[in-house]
Amino acid sequence: MGRIALLLLMGCLGGWAELQYYKYSNASTWEDARQHCSVCYKELVSLNSENIHLIVQNLSTDYWVGLRKDLNGTMSWSVWSNGDPVTFQNWYPGHPTILKEIPPTPTTPTPQTSPGPQPLDNFCHVELESLCRNLTNSTEIYIYDSTKPPSPVTQPQPVVTVEPEPIIENPCTSLLSFGMWMEKNCSELQPYICYEDRFYGTVNFSRVTLNSVFLNWTVGPGNIDHYRLELRGDINITNSTTSLSMDIFQLTPGTLYHIQVFAVKCERDLDPQNTSFYTKPDVIENLTVTEVKTDSIQLSWVKPNGNHDFYSVHLGNNINNTVNSTTENCLITSLSPGRLYYFQVYTEVKDQSIMSDPKNISSYTRPNQVINLTVFSCNSTWINLTWNKNEEVPLIFLVVVSQNGNFLFNQSTNYTNMMVESLTPGNKYDFTVVPQVPDLTLTGENATTTGFTRPCPVSNLTLKSNETSITATWNLTKGNFSQFSLTIQSTGKNLTMNTTSLMYDFTNLKAAARYSVTVSTVVGQLSSDPINCLIYTLPVRPGKPSLVNKTMENITIRWEVPDELNSGTTQYLVNYSSSFWNYSNSVITSNNTITAEFLKSGTYYTFFIQTLADSKMSDPVNFTEFTEPRKKTLTITMQCSSDKSLFCESKNASSNVYAMLQDSLNKLLTGVYYQFQKKT
Ligand SMILES: *[C@@H]1O[C@H](CO)[C@@H](O)[C@H](O)[C@H]1NC(C)=O
Ligand SMILES: *[C@@H]1O[C@H](CO)[C@@H](O)[C@H](O)[C@H]1NC(C)=O
Ligand SMILES: *[C@@H]1O[C@H](CO)[C@@H](O)[C@H](O)[C@H]1NC(C)=O
Ligand SMILES: *[C@@H]1O[C@H](CO)[C@@H](O)[C@H](O)[C@H]1NC(C)=O
Ligand SMILES: *[C@@H]1O[C@H](CO)[C@@H](O)[C@H](O)[C@H]1NC(C)=O
Ligand SMILES: *[C@@H]1O[C@H](CO)[C@@H](O)[C@H](O)[C@H]1NC(C)=O
Ligand SMILES: *[C@@H]1O[C@H](CO)[C@@H](O)[C@H](O)[C@H]1NC(C)=O
Ligand SMILES: *[C@@H]1O[C@H](CO)[C@@H](O)[C@H](O)[C@H]1NC(C)=O
Ligand SMILES: *[C@@H]1O[C@H](CO)[C@@H](O)[C@H](O)[C@H]1NC(C)=O
Ligand SMILES: *[C@@H]1O[C@H](CO)[C@@H](O)[C@H](O)[C@H]1NC(C)=O
Ligand SMILES: *[C@@H]1O[C@H](CO)[C@@H](O)[C@H](O)[C@H]1NC(C)=O
Ligand SMILES: *[C@@H]1O[C@H](CO)[C@@H](O)[C@H](O)[C@H]1NC(C)=O
Repeated sequence: MGRIALLLLMGCLGGWAELQYYKYSNASTWEDARQHCSVCYKELVSLNSENIHLIVQNLSTDYWVGLRKDLNGTMSWSVWSNGDPVTFQNWYPGHPTILKEIPPTPTTPTPQTSPGPQPLDNFCHVELESLCRNLTNSTEIYIYDSTKPPSPVTQPQPVVTVEPEPIIENPCTSLLSFGMWMEKNCSELQPYICYEDRFYGTVNFSRVTLNSVFLNWTVGPGNIDHYRLELRGDINITNSTTSLSMDIFQLTPGTLYHIQVFAVKCERDLDPQNTSFYTKPDVIENLTVTEVKTDSIQLSWVKPNGNHDFYSVHLGNNINNTVNSTTENCLITSLSPGRLYYFQVYTEVKDQSIMSDPKNISSYTRPNQVINLTVFSCNSTWINLTWNKNEEVPLIFLVVVSQNGNFLFNQSTNYTNMMVESLTPGNKYDFTVVPQVPDLTLTGENATTTGFTRPCPVSNLTLKSNETSITATWNLTKGNFSQFSLTIQSTGKNLTMNTTSLMYDFTNLKAAARYSVTVSTVVGQLSSDPINCLIYTLPVRPGKPSLVNKTMENITIRWEVPDELNSGTTQYLVNYSSSFWNYSNSVITSNNTITAEFLKSGTYYTFFIQTLADSKMSDPVNFTEFTEPRKKTLTITMQCSSDKSLFCESKNASSNVYAMLQDSLNKLLTGVYYQFQKKT
């Protein structure tokens, strides 16, 4: 019976078949092949409708597959060596031979006569046929002698050969190079096809640190010789172990490493177990706040060791408030003034599978300038300063007190007002309010204002008056002033004026009138408490006196009455006196005349006449007159003696003596009438 072979020439399917099946080219007996497959692979291959079209590609020779007629006493050809039931068969026609029906008729195969493969028209197994159609649009089917290795044939010729059919004891199945099955003697040496070990284990990484990782992986199938670990990244490490885990050190922080762990079996790598991981990125260094504004904070830092992809800056504990940065600084905006913010800066890798430890920093934003700064002078040494802040945040305010650009002192408060004490009265002060954050690390913009302490009232206000003027004098014992404000008031009339001296003359006043004078110290807009005094102007003086009559004992004088004096109510006080006699007298009269009686003759009397009005006296006018003398003559004789001859005869000497005498009489007789005559 001739054997007809099929050759499938297919180039359309890729090499992935090799991944699942392994064609072992060393020729072995079926048992050895099975043994080798089960140790180094899985098992001899089982064929079914799903894998057949993959396996038959590019078969260059016959291969053992995992089917034996009587495997473990099962029904003939019913079970594959891996235990799968035989559900699909592709036997060469007439095979397997059945011992009873076809007695052995040994024939000699004549392979030499085979001219080569030949297209076959109707001889395609139904399933292969449909497979052929699907695999390629250029499927060609050839018949050729299976004992010859297939060779490229440009002009295929059909050939039919007839071979003897040996009867074999418990044969094994060989997959012929053209895809059909033939039973063969199991001790023949043939290549074989094993199931490749597909291995889907995984590598786990854990205990990831900056520089190390712990890897463990799934145990491989069967007798694994060892595991080979290959790490690729900025360094490449290959190491082998028989255990299922490995610690790896000396990695670079923040770096992506790819790991492959190959289970090695019969010096052959099974499918690798893959993973990749980032080492933990290192923490940044020297995190500092580089710029603070009222609404933003800028942070900067120094790049950490190792690698990284970017940084993330977290605001407080709010994970939503995150800013990414690829540079070593970050500006965080939209903040509120004067508040404390906490930041955490992390070093990150691209997939954010792991991040560095955080570096923490906190900072206040700069506080806002205070507004509505106002100053209120409470009294001469206290000033009440108040202001408003824009934000409801706790702040400390530094109040700096200065004067004419010279710093005096400063003081802090938590409140939005301050009583500034111990100031000097009547002074101008400059106040600067500096908002500060509670830890005093930052200040806001200054606000300034100016204020005055109230001046002190004047002291010792004294008034002096005459008929038409008042002179006011006063002192200022404490504090400063810029001027004094004076008000003079009389029966509903007010007059105000300013002066910078400590006295003032009010002129053109009415005589004998009541005046109220008020003095207050003024600085800026501020006045001290007023100090007030009352005074009357003096009455108008009497007019010019003149002599009416005089005797040896009386003098009568009269004085004029000025128009201003109301003669009806006016009285006059007349004092007259003689110093010689040490005599004085006073008279009050309503008339503008007086007669002084009982005077001494020949004596000078001095009269002081004052107007009396409302118990006020005017300044006096004076008048001097002497009474008629009662004449007496007194003769004084002088005798001259001198040791100088003729001295007394000289004119000079007598006139000198005479002058000396007159001089002493003048002194002695002041206030009395006398005449002095010289007789020689
Ligand atoms: C063959 O039989 C032995 C013993 O009966 C059993 O242990 C083994 O699993 C069997 N093999 C198969 C492929 O059934
Ligand atoms: C061939 O292809 C057809 C249509 O694409 C499909 O229905 C059929 O199952 C395929 N046959 C085989 C053996 O793959
Ligand atoms: C079928 O084969 C022809 C000739 O080799 C080729 O040009 C064509 O692209 C193929 N078609 C498909 C669908 O592969
Ligand atoms: C690796 O070890 C961890 C415990 O350390 C274990 O939970 C995990 O299952 C192991 N993974 C593998 C693949 O062995
Ligand atoms: C690591 O291995 C890869 C691939 O084999 C190679 O491209 C790379 O240059 C190697 N790196 C180092 C640091 O040796
Ligand atoms: C391989 O791993 C072993 C044990 O983990 C270690 O002692 C050895 O240094 C490693 N070799 C290399 C080249 O990393
Ligand atoms: C961090 O700051 C310190 C002190 O300023 C300096 O000595 C150090 O060099 C800085 N570190 C880096 C990485 O710049
Ligand atoms: C973050 O944003 C999400 C969605 O916008 C919100 O549900 C969540 O409460 C926010 N978390 C915080 C801490 O604000
Ligand atoms: C920061 O970068 C990560 C990774 O690219 C991204 O998932 C995240 O949304 C970014 N966050 C912000 C606030 O842009
Ligand atoms: C500042 O003063 C104005 C006028 O008195 C007032 O309307 C305003 O509310 C004040 N501002 C604050 C922050 O209190
Ligand atoms: C000034 O005013 C403050 C507050 O009103 C007060 O406590 C203080 O005694 C006053 N000082 C004088 C000297 O009046
Ligand atoms: C200071 O002035 C403010 C506002 O005018 C007022 O509320 C406060 O009572 C004053 N403080 C004192 C001690 O007078």
